[in-house]
Amino acid sequence: MNKNIFSAIQPSAGSPTIGNYFGAIKNWVSLQDKYSCIFAIADLHAISVRQDPKVLHGNILSVFATLLACGIDPKKSLFFLQSQVHEHSELAWILGCFTQFGELSRMTQFKSKSEKISSSSVNVGLFTYPSLMAADILLYNTNLVPVGADQKQHLEITRTIAMRFNGLYGDTFVVPEPLIPETGAKIMSLQDPSKKMSKSDENESSRISIFDDESTIIRKFSRAVTDSDNKVLKSPDKKGVNNLMTIYSCATGKNDEEIQKEFSNRGYKDFKEAVANVVYEQLKPIQKNFSKYMENENYIKSCYEEGASRASDIAKKTLRSVKEKVGFLV
Ligand code: TYM
Repeated sequence: MNKNIFSAIQPSAGSPTIGNYFGAIKNWVSLQDKYSCIFAIADLHAISVRQDPKVLHGNILSVFATLLACGIDPKKSLFFLQSQVHEHSELAWILGCFTQFGELSRMTQFKSKSEKISSSSVNVGLFTYPSLMAADILLYNTNLVPVGADQKQHLEITRTIAMRFNGLYGDTFVVPEPLIPETGAKIMSLQDPSKKMSKSDENESSRISIFDDESTIIRKFSRAVTDSDNKVLKSPDKKGVNNLMTIYSCATGKNDEEIQKEFSNRGYKDFKEAVANVVYEQLKPIQKNFSKYMENENYIKSCYEEGASRASDIAKKTLRSVKEKVGFLV
């Protein structure tokens, strides 16, 4: 049987980075030819931190167009906006009643996000975020969830919730597996390679956005933190260089040995220039496609409306069976 894939991305402030691209989106595009894929823009998750409505509206549209530009094809995959399929919120409530307070308290993403904002802004949505994510995944009989390494813990709790529910009520949910890429699962900040590259990092130079122009990409890589060794080698104490090698590998498909050989007699300056070039070559066609899609809002609308209607057809069947199992009248 063809396996089902589900994944999603938040339309948070700032364009997706090459972390999102190499860790997730690029893999989604190639999975479309092998599996039955469903992708969503997780706009419900986005409001777990305060958003300006106008800015959020624009971000939802532009992230949708970005994914189309990257190669998510609505003819191959089901692609929609999470807030337009109300079954997500409904199942999230039910699953929340099968999720332990202690389990949610241990989520590292909750801990780090809530540390960054003032305690009065730490809302319940931020805390119950993983139950909504579990609902996203479990609604669609998902076998595999392609994500970056930072989502692994959320996948584990999704599995726990699914198994707990199945244990109580009999087989209801498919228990999903994470699909984490061997290379690129955690692209690090260019300025602090012990930290994940993030679209919300205050320091612009820490990340490459999918929409950075050529000169910005060259500048950011030329300033990327490395070490004084000037040798292109993978080694545990060369975090900055390791990260650049990973990025180079994601963009070219070359492995560590090949990269080390290619740059064996060349220093960091040459290497950084080469990384910038291959990254820009990957992003150039996406940037071009993006402008094309953004000029055609009607097309974008027709895609997400059709996506929501097809997603809802699947989601409502799962939700109905869950409601029956817990004893509701359906
Ligand atoms: P989000 O929007 O933070 O990120 C989208 C995807 O990009 C990956 N990613 C990275 N991969 C490698 N290196 C990085 N530096 C990097 N930064 C981000 C993430 O792992 C993710 O795969 N909670 C999710 C969205 C979501 C979801 C879901 C995902 C909502 N419901 C159901 C899967 C299934 C999130 O905030 O991703």
